[in-house]
Amino acid sequence: MAGMNHVGTWPALGLGTWRMGENARTRRSEIAAVRLAIEIGYRLIDSAEMYGDGGAEEVVGAAVADALRAGDCRREDLVIVSKVLPSNASLHGVAAACQRSRARLGIDTIDLYLLHWPGSHPLHETLQGFEQLRAQRAIAQWGVSNFDLAAMKKLVALPDGGRCAANQVYYSLSQRGIDFDLKPWQQRRAMPLMAYCPIDQSALAGDARVAALAAPLGLTAAQLALAWTLRDGNIIAIPKAVREPHLRENLAAGSVTVAAATLAALDALFPPPRKAGPLAIT
Ligand SMILES: NC(=O)c1ccc[n+]([C@@H]2O[C@H](COP(=O)([O-])OP(=O)(O)OC[C@H]3O[C@@H](n4cnc5c(N)ncnc54)[C@H](OP(=O)(O)O)[C@@H]3O)[C@@H](O)[C@H]2O)c1
Repeated sequence: MAGMNHVGTWPALGLGTWRMGENARTRRSEIAAVRLAIEIGYRLIDSAEMYGDGGAEEVVGAAVADALRAGDCRREDLVIVSKVLPSNASLHGVAAACQRSRARLGIDTIDLYLLHWPGSHPLHETLQGFEQLRAQRAIAQWGVSNFDLAAMKKLVALPDGGRCAANQVYYSLSQRGIDFDLKPWQQRRAMPLMAYCPIDQSALAGDARVAALAAPLGLTAAQLALAWTLRDGNIIAIPKAVREPHLRENLAAGSVTVAAATLAALDALFPPPRKAGPLAIT
């Protein structure tokens, strides 16, 4: 297997953290899972102030601090992603939310800070807030999440809108509507697309038809589903896992290239969209 694919300087395979940090009883094992992820080579971690009401960011912060102390990686090798809630995305609200997230994550600079979904605060204000945070080095780059093509077009037309570094959306074999319009548009602009729920919250891992195509290749169904999301480049998949076999399997999928015949067989199972449709949201 070749090395991990990259999108610019970002690894194509990162770790999701939704559902972490919600429960004191599982916190220790979640920190251990994120810690193990870094140890085995994950370098991009996706979180949000919403997850566990800040708890997921605390889990990430504890694991990152421990990994840095142990010398498992350097801070500059990690890409830490977090998201501001739309209700906090006013000019001043975004600054306060970012400060809280940085404190929970235990880092000076959030590498990529996303607006979690479009909200009611004027977008130009949010962007102004993002740009101020960038000037202060509280964030390195900013982007959005759950923006469909129409929303992206409006965004890039705003002052500084062209600085949007990524859009994170639902994308998996079973939710591939963005193949019709948003994905090619972002590809043309070389704007990375982050695929969330890339194994459909584990459903694709249990899909016997995907497993049957994956097995002869020495892959699990989850690995084939992940490698499929990465097939055209410009995509970063962020599967969440806490179990060690899952963590290892998923990371390995970041260096798998899927042959044309397998892609065609997957197209037959999960037909590409023929017209524009609403953005899938979880
Ligand atoms: N921007 C947004 O609005 C948004 C929305 C949803 C998600 N996200 C981000 O995207 C990340 C991924 O999405 P998700 O967590 O909803 O779904 P997902 O990554 O598609 O699926 C996660 C589930 O699949 C299981 N799993 C992971 N690897 C597996 C494997 N190799 N074989 C079998 N099962 C496996 C996990 O189990 P274990 O944990 O038990 O190992 C977990 O139950 C989130 O964690 C979050 O960071 C963003």
